[in-house]
Amino acid sequence: APSRLLIRGGRVVNDDFSEVADVLVEDGVVRALGHDLLPPGGAPVGLRVLDAAGKLVLPGGIDTHTHMEFPFMDSRSIDDFHQGTKAALAGGTTMIIDFAIPQKGGSLIEAFETWRSWADPKVCCDYSLHVAVTWWSDQVREEMKILVQDKGVNSFKMFMAYKDLYMVRDLELYAAFSQCKEIGAIAQVHAENGDLIAEGAKKMLALGITGPEGHELCRPEAVEAEATLRAITIASAVNCPLYIVHVMSKSAAKVIADARRDGKVVYGEPIAASLGTDGTHYWNKEWHHAAHHVMGPPLRPDPSTPDFLMNLLANGPCGSGLPRRTCPPFMRITMVMSLWSILLTRGFLLHICCDDLTTTGTDNCTFNTCQKALGKDDFTKIPNGVNGVEDRMSVIWEKGVHSGKMDENRFVAVTSTNAAKIFNLYPRKGRIAVGSDADIVIWDPKATRLSPSLQSIVCSSDDMRPTSSAGEVIESDFDLHTWTSAASGEATLGKLEEPGGCFITVKGKHRDYLSKNSSSGC
Ligand code: URP
Ligand code: ZN
Ligand code: ZN
Ligand code: ZN
Repeated sequence: APSRLLIRGGRVVNDDFSEVADVLVEDGVVRALGHDLLPPGGAPVGLRVLDAAGKLVLPGGIDTHTHMEFPFMDSRSIDDFHQGTKAALAGGTTMIIDFAIPQKGGSLIEAFETWRSWADPKVCCDYSLHVAVTWWSDQVREEMKILVQDKGVNSFKMFMAYKDLYMVRDLELYAAFSQCKEIGAIAQVHAENGDLIAEGAKKMLALGITGPEGHELCRPEAVEAEATLRAITIASAVNCPLYIVHVMSKSAAKVIADARRDGKVVYGEPIAASLGTDGTHYWNKEWHHAAHHVMGPPLRPDPSTPDFLMNLLANGPCGSGLPRRTCPPFMRITMVMSLWSILLTRGFLLHICCDDLTTTGTDNCTFNTCQKALGKDDFTKIPNGVNGVEDRMSVIWEKGVHSGKMDENRFVAVTSTNAAKIFNLYPRKGRIAVGSDADIVIWDPKATRLSPSLQSIVCSSDDMRPTSSAGEVIESDFDLHTWTSAASGEATLGKLEEPGGCFITVKGKHRDYLSKNSSSGC
């Protein structure tokens, strides 16, 4: 018999509207959406009813950027696909997109199959894979095409940093972007100038700066902003849509916002860490505390960075040409009138309605204290990566919605819908609608406050990761799980003030996104 679930009386929130409605789930898929779906005689046998009155009913989060059990920098990230996806679900994320990353000279398809062999037996939520292009050849060109046509891959990441490991040069970027354009995939870049980082690091070490602060000092904001602009320039030369992963600085975000206002098809992805905390931690006196914040590009010491990035993320399009929050209702009416539209399309006012940053990931790539200690005497050997897969939704709720910067619809757009659209998952994911996967989060809008001292969280010196959101999780078979603790890397983002009970994640139908052709049409 099919498992059925009725989520009753909550406020269903999509990116473009909110409405109090019941949601009927059958076999992990949304079957009906409407009012008073509970039959007059009460719940029939086999129908479980969840009361969501006073709660929000949101599309499950999509984390666009994770690295579970990633072999990297002489170590391997400590959240495996089981722990990591369990943590995702506990925090309201029902799908992650991880990265298959071949060595230089290696086969993309082999890397893809390797990552699948790690993930398939143990993931708890849906997942997909971006594939990295770390070198260039005819073989790579051909494999990209096969991955898109036969394996359900939609996106390829190119590294402009990690010299000698993954970095590609401009001409290789040009070739990879051209191929993405040709096969209808989206190109992604890790935007940092790898040569400048390598030279900067040598300089720091020669000066005797060996601690985590050297990591940031040798790659200032301009190193990220320059590469961001270069990638956009190259992508636009071949007319390829571009996606900038882990946007960490004000300078890089400004480059992206400007390009978008110029009409370039480029998307920016800030991450939970860049939205939730800053790079002043690199100067913390406790070595391991500082080391746990080491990632590339680094968190920025300018403490206004998280707020700045959140403002650009909040600045979604409303159609009228005015920023969402300042748009008076009459403007929404006026916007359909022709004069306004003409002004918009001619670009006179386009700049103020532009969506500046579009999606959010985490770059969840956790290393424990022992692993981070590989770089105790030399910051260049500290494995790069932070956590966040469990915390992303709450960080954005707290810092974006509670702060008044964005409304609930924009929250859904930046945590789920926009990612679903860009990575070819929409409307199965990213929307609560009849026929969509029942990946749903029942969210208590009042209970998800983060600790006020988010910026000054001290990592514990043992290997315990602070328990954070610990939501209740319901799978499509409706067994109840309460997952109170997640991954074992230390947190950099902080602890929820009221752990537990903030929300319920319903994981709908488990899908295999990687075995059939689901190439993007971008
Ligand atoms: O420091 C980071 N970001 N580690 C993960 C690898 C990457 O560049 O995304
Ligand atoms: Zn990266
Ligand atoms: Zn408006
Ligand atoms: Zn990453």
